[in-house]
Amino acid sequence: MCINDEIFKLYPPSWLYVRRTLKEIILAAEKDGEEVSDGLYELHAIYLLPPQDGSSELASKCYKTFTYTVPPKSRSYLACQTDSKKFLEEDEQLVTLRVSSNMLEGGTGCSTWPAGLLLSEFVLSHPELFFGKNCLEVGAGTGMVGVLLARIGTGKIMLTDGSLATLANLKNNLSINNVEVEEAQQANSDLNTHSSTRVECRQLTWETLFDKERNLDCNVILGADLIYDPLNIPPLVNLLASLLPVGRPIRTNGLEQNVYEYPVAFIASAIRNPDTLVYFVETVRKAGLKMAEVGETMRPAICLTGISDLDRSTILIHKIQAWKD
Ligand SMILES: C[S@@+](CC[C@H](N)C(=O)[O-])C[C@H]1O[C@@H](n2cnc3c(N)ncnc32)[C@H](O)[C@@H]1O
Repeated sequence: MCINDEIFKLYPPSWLYVRRTLKEIILAAEKDGEEVSDGLYELHAIYLLPPQDGSSELASKCYKTFTYTVPPKSRSYLACQTDSKKFLEEDEQLVTLRVSSNMLEGGTGCSTWPAGLLLSEFVLSHPELFFGKNCLEVGAGTGMVGVLLARIGTGKIMLTDGSLATLANLKNNLSINNVEVEEAQQANSDLNTHSSTRVECRQLTWETLFDKERNLDCNVILGADLIYDPLNIPPLVNLLASLLPVGRPIRTNGLEQNVYEYPVAFIASAIRNPDTLVYFVETVRKAGLKMAEVGETMRPAICLTGISDLDRSTILIHKIQAWKD
């Protein structure tokens, strides 16, 4: 933790997080017999008191800054894609997110979730699946995946969530990370109109799909940590069953062929209750979609650094497609 870092000053983590981290550092140093500087003790003493600006140490909004590296294979791929040069400028890169430290404010979408972090690593590990594609994220939450898609250089990116509070926070996070967002369109406007800006945020509630949303122009659908509540599963699967069979003719040299490309969904899920996962798998199969876990060779590389508490082994990524063989 670099307390004098500009990022830290602009986007501070929660007071309690800093206090705990300083304590851990001091305890670890003392245990190893290292000399702890007076400055560190003094800083810890400051964080033992409530914040001086009068805000609560349990302030509901704070910032999390993630560092990540782009795996060498992804770098080589992206180096050939002119749009993505910026993505490769620095070895270690940052994503800063405003999050809620209190689930009651802003809903689940204002926190980061393990499956969202693993899906972020999947995007960084497999840019070839997303580059130049129109991507739709459902239940986009804090926008971590959206920021990375924008940096990779996908086609159009549509970030959606059912919660308006989450969407407001998501837009703020895109702005923090210099991702330009297209102004919100009217709820009943045509989602397939082309515009110069690539990133759009809009409310999309799985239970209330409009006809236009059944025909979204997307190549890839992404989602993370969406299947924690069994009640959410039928509407989510219904959404996938509406969008995945919508094929688009493949164009070569600007000419349409009689060959169609169908969208693919990548859904990352942390396994908390195995019955909920079984129910999800059954519902997907009953909807006539095919579903498989991404194979070992496709498992993401470890790209996010400094998050030792992320247990990647408990998170699955499923690839879901319409039966079109
Ligand atoms: C556990 S959070 C995961 C957020 C993000 N994908 C991540 O991994 O960090 C679940 C997200 O799904 C959204 N969500 C839940 N039910 C929904 C529904 N029926 N329609 C649309 N969005 C929904 C929530 O608002 C929330 O943002």
